[in-house]
Amino acid sequence: MKHVLSSDQYTRESLEEVFALADKVRTHQEEYKNKLEDKIIAIMFYEPSTRTRLSFETAALKLGAKIITTENAGEFSSAAKGETIQDTVNVISGYADALVIRHKSVTSAIDAASVEKMPILNAGAGKGEHPTQALLDLYTIKRKRGKIDGAKVAILGDLLYGRTIHSLIKLLSLYDNIEIYGLSKDVFALPQEYIDMLKSRGIEYKKCNSFDELPKDLDVIYHTRIQAERFEGDFGKEEFIINKKVLDTFSSNTILMHPLPRVIEISTDVDDDPRACYFEQAHNGLYVRMALLLQVLDRA
Ligand code: NCD
Repeated sequence: MKHVLSSDQYTRESLEEVFALADKVRTHQEEYKNKLEDKIIAIMFYEPSTRTRLSFETAALKLGAKIITTENAGEFSSAAKGETIQDTVNVISGYADALVIRHKSVTSAIDAASVEKMPILNAGAGKGEHPTQALLDLYTIKRKRGKIDGAKVAILGDLLYGRTIHSLIKLLSLYDNIEIYGLSKDVFALPQEYIDMLKSRGIEYKKCNSFDELPKDLDVIYHTRIQAERFEGDFGKEEFIINKKVLDTFSSNTILMHPLPRVIEISTDVDDDPRACYFEQAHNGLYVRMALLLQVLDRA
């Protein structure tokens, strides 16, 4: 059974298949509009979402599938009564053909997949991973830059709890001559396990302390929101804010990415800058998620 659980499951070849299919559905939408007409996709989100949920729903609808969903599953589904993810999946598999799940537990997607009754798509698992976001992030880098090998990428914001960061650097590490620079408050530094993972794949992670320490010819600046809902206490606001003045110290080819939602880390005065591509990035998610639904349901 095919699932999308973690960036760990991908190789360069399988990533190319996702990207090629995303390009194909994008340019031949008419051909794909009935591909999943006999399928029902269940969407269970136990945490807030705008883009991920709506893009998965749109992806399913554009492929002709129907969707079943529960508003705020943490509050309104039987999880609130103590039901396990495995029991929920056992039940939903009697109704739907695939499950898109977002949950605060790091192991939620793996737990759901362990039932082996239906394809599971991990739409965010606590502070762990968010592989479908990483796929659309990488797809965006490829579309903007033409290739991924040799990319110089800076990751900013919440590197500790930011699941999009975790999934993205795993995918980047599959490519050649990647450079990764980190800039965050110390309390939100990248966990050692990820630094070790990069090292084991030949990438020396470079922790920086100011914008000045980042190379000016970065290919990508990837900022993220401090994930305040994942910790107790107040560690203050983001210190490394990208505004027009900061962005203008980087190359005209540096692209500025963010999984969204943003809070203060990117100011709106750069939204019109041609280097800002977070809205385009979100739009790309639709085609990547269409490709993923087709793949897990064997209609690629
Ligand atoms: C991210 C997430 O949920 O991890 N959002 C998203 O899916 N685009 C990032 C975030 O919430 O900060």
